[in-house]
Amino acid sequence: GKYRVVSTKSMPGTRWINLLVQQDCRVEICTEKKTILSVEDIIALIGTKCDGVIGQLTEDWGETLFSALSKAGGKAFSNMAVGYNNVDVEAATKYGVAVGNTPGVLTETTAELAASLSLAASRRIVEADGFMRAGLYDGWLPHLFVGNLLKGQTVGVIGAGRIGSAYARMMIEGFKMNLIYFDLYQATRLEKFVTAYGQFLKASGEEPVTWRRASSMDEVLQQADVISLHPILDKTTYHLINKERLSKMKKEAILINCSRGPVVDEEALVEHLKQNPMFRVGLDVFEDEPYMKPGLADMKNAIVVPHIASASKWTREGMATLAALNVLVCIFYTHITHFVC
Ligand code: GLV
Ligand code: GLV
Repeated sequence: GKYRVVSTKSMPGTRWINLLVQQDCRVEICTEKKTILSVEDIIALIGTKCDGVIGQLTEDWGETLFSALSKAGGKAFSNMAVGYNNVDVEAATKYGVAVGNTPGVLTETTAELAASLSLAASRRIVEADGFMRAGLYDGWLPHLFVGNLLKGQTVGVIGAGRIGSAYARMMIEGFKMNLIYFDLYQATRLEKFVTAYGQFLKASGEEPVTWRRASSMDEVLQQADVISLHPILDKTTYHLINKERLSKMKKEAILINCSRGPVVDEEALVEHLKQNPMFRVGLDVFEDEPYMKPGLADMKNAIVVPHIASASKWTREGMATLAALNVLVCIFYTHITHFVC
């Protein structure tokens, strides 16, 4: 191969490899056993000649790595993720490395996990499953694992971009929830959908669903029964959900986070879960991944899964393919120096 492309991890499917090989790239996949590569590990991988790298959200792509990649003749880096809080785009630009991410292919898969966590939390599925396996079920009772009915309740979406809007739509269409959302931008398509769906329900003689764009985040926190977080992580969204904001939510609210861990002050969340046994949370991401803050794992009102929101076969193969295409585009179109999908 004329070009050398490195992937810091083995990725699902073979399409991404074929695409690169067909364009005269030699593909090298890191075989290191440890889960998270250090900056030093990646510098060694880059070596003295490397045209592009496909990396992971667990890696710290800053000044050091982009300088090393640039010295090795590299022009392209793609994160195999939609989020790019682990990538210093400014540093990449400074070293002439174009950067890509993998949006689109994970929208529905991620929204489906947020919906799964919403249902699991509202109907206490994980708790109930543990109860069965522990041999504690000794007969049906009127008050056994009573949870919340979603129909007619309000779903609150903070960050109504691709994923937040897809999630909102699932909860509205699937469970006839009303919507309140907060975003700096107007979610025009989502608003149109809810309006049309409300009219459809009305025409069918059912209670229509309603929607509202909140003028502040606190409005969402105060009014919603299920709140799902879908912002990007940056300086402005770090600890967006803190002690004070948690205290504004309904005592029996459900909070879902499939975005990035640091969006929530996890220590404050553990304390809130302790003080409010009817408050429930579904978490896919954590502040210090792969660790959880002390006490979180003991909370019955918390459901925790290991950052698997994009983990469907179709999506992961799509992410790998898109990452490979990002790298190819930047190798062949060398005038692209600053590029995030
Ligand atoms: C996963 O967290 C992603 O950003 O794709
Ligand atoms: C519950 O199983 C019922 O039949 O109401």
